[in-house]
Parts: sequence; C-alpha cells; structure tokens
Amino acid sequence: MILVLGGAGYIGSHMLKVLREVGEPHLAFDNLERGHLAALGESPFLAGDLRQPNDLTRLFAEHRIDTVMHFAAYIEVGESVKKPAEFYWNNVYGVLVLLEQMRLAGVSQIVFSSTAAVYGEPDYVPLDEAHPTRPGNPYGETKLAVERMLAAFGDAYGLRSVCLRYFNAAGADPAGVLGEDHDPETHLIPLVIQAALGRRPSIKIFGDDYPTPDGTGVRDYVHVLDLAKAHLLAVNHLRRGGASATYNLGTGHGHSVKEVISAVERVSGRPVPVEIAPRRAGDTAQLVAASDAIQRDWGWRPQFGQLDQIVEHAFRWFEAHPEGYRTPL
Ligand code: UFG
Repeated sequence: MILVLGGAGYIGSHMLKVLREVGEPHLAFDNLERGHLAALGESPFLAGDLRQPNDLTRLFAEHRIDTVMHFAAYIEVGESVKKPAEFYWNNVYGVLVLLEQMRLAGVSQIVFSSTAAVYGEPDYVPLDEAHPTRPGNPYGETKLAVERMLAAFGDAYGLRSVCLRYFNAAGADPAGVLGEDHDPETHLIPLVIQAALGRRPSIKIFGDDYPTPDGTGVRDYVHVLDLAKAHLLAVNHLRRGGASATYNLGTGHGHSVKEVISAVERVSGRPVPVEIAPRRAGDTAQLVAASDAIQRDWGWRPQFGQLDQIVEHAFRWFEAHPEGYRTPL
C-alpha cells in the first residue's frame, strides 16, 4: 500500500485520483494546515502531522505500507525567505522524523517531490540533472537538504528513493473537480486566470527586461497529472528493486509570462489587463527542463504537453470554483 503524505494538497490530491483510477491501494495523510478535505475525494484518509512521531508510529503499525510519497512541503519561495525556520521545520525536520519512523517500521521506499529550485541560477538551459545544485533561497535549500538526507539514509540503511525535480507544476484534472487552491496565490497561471475572470484587477508582469525573446520570464509548465503519472513509474521502479534515482520533470519547452497571458486570453475568450512591474526578487530569467533521462529510462512522456491544454484545464477548475474548495456546490 502507498502512503501519500500531503494528499489534500494540489499535487497530492491529483496523485490520489490517479491511484484511485489505477486501483492502487493507498492511504492519504495530511495535517490540513494548507490542504483541503474536499480534495481527498474517495481516498482513505488519516489526519496527522509528520513532525509528530507518534502519528506515524501508529500509522505504520496499523497499515502495511511499502512505499511513501511525500507531497507535504511548504512550497512558496518568497515565504521561505521570510520564514526559513518554518520551512526547515516542516520540509527538513518533518522528513527526518518520517525517515526514522520508516526505518523503525521497515519501510524502505520513498518517492520525494523535489524541485527545479535546487539548481538556482542556471549556467545553461535546458537544465539536465548534472547541472550544479546551488539553491538561491531557503525553499530550494530545504529540498536539496532532503535529497542529500535520502542519499545518506540509502548508503547507511538501504533506503531506496526517487527524487523528482518538478519544474512549474500547473493545470488541473480535466474533469474540473480538482485544482489549485493556495492562500495567498502567487503562481502565474492561477493569477492570470483570476484576472481574466475579473476576480483580480490585473496581472502584474514581474519584469519585461529579461534576456529572453520577449523580455519576460520563461518557465517550463508541466501538467500536474503528468507529474502524478511519473510517480506511478517511480513506484514501479522501486518495487522492481530499482536503485535510487533523481529525475527532472518538465516538458522541455519554455513559455514566457506574455505567452501564458496570451494562452489564457485564447482559452477564456476574455482580455487580461496587464501591468508591467519590477522584477520579483529571486526570480531567474529562464528555467527549462531537460527531461530526457526519465523519458529514456522509464518512457515517461507528458500527455498534456501543450500550454493551451494546461491552461484550459486550470481554467475549467477556476471557472467552476471561483472560491477554490470553499465555493458552494
Ligand atoms: N510572474 C509574474 N507575475 C505574477 C506571478 C509570477 O510575472 O504575478 C512570473 C514570475 O516572475 C516567473 C513566472 O511568472 O517568471 C512564474 O512564476 P511562478 O510564481 O508561477 O513560479 P516560479 O517559477 O517562481 O516558482 C515555481 C514554483 C516553486 C518552485 C519553482 C522552481 O512555484 O515552488 O517553480 O522552479 F520552486
């Protein structure tokens, strides 16, 4: 059985849906600090906190878990600069508690959600896994610290792990019942859609003087369901006895902020009011993934690789749920 930590969050809830669809026994675990009960769907759920060892002791005693997936981290770069203590406490100490409890319970497989933020300012793009890791903020540092902790636990105790370095997770399940619901929202695609829907006065473009074709920041947006499917491949790999591995997850195609705004205008049929604002501290000009390794080794291919598909699915969610999971049915 798979344990999905952070199952009530954006990516975790999409993972649960994919596990339900393939009939894979699983259990969701979440402290509901930032997750949403409604996002759990029909998946079995236990409330608890990673930083409370007893919550996990009981869970591992009562359920036959063979593989853990970790989606239970804080993710917002700007917040990590202001609140590093919280980030290290949740993202690093929480995983240390988890790994100790896994070791005591004899659970030796984990799929860990890492990030492109471990690379920091790129020396070259597309970024492959061999690119040096020099995170530019505490968020990226916490993810890299866990990658290293997993490697050390592997060497010493035989833990086997897959680290998946996501680029920009985006989109939503096409059925429109699951989606992104962060408070506050800082991610580009949700903000542009909310501006198109009239829920925000405009979208601020953070810098139009980057060394990119149209001057705005370029990112590799990867569909949340494609991320979830990569996790299934990772579980299969670990269950076959595969060695620990680290892979990038992106489409290999970069899109600028202006291209995202045009995609939202196309999909929604509505104009998006735009303001040019100064660069946001800590942002880089371009982050694009080379995902050849996971494509070659496991045959992973983005099913929803087109920006318009990603935006369309996100738009369906926001149109039907203007208040996120609080929207009355
Ligand atoms: N942007 C704007 N205006 C906004 C919001 C964002 O112009 O109101 C721009 C940013 O400057 C950037 C692009 O849109 O160029 C994407 O920004 P996001 O905030 O959506 O995403 P980031 O690339 O900053 O961060 C994402 C994840 C992080 C992760 C990082 C790794 O949110 O968790 O990718 O690459 F660390």
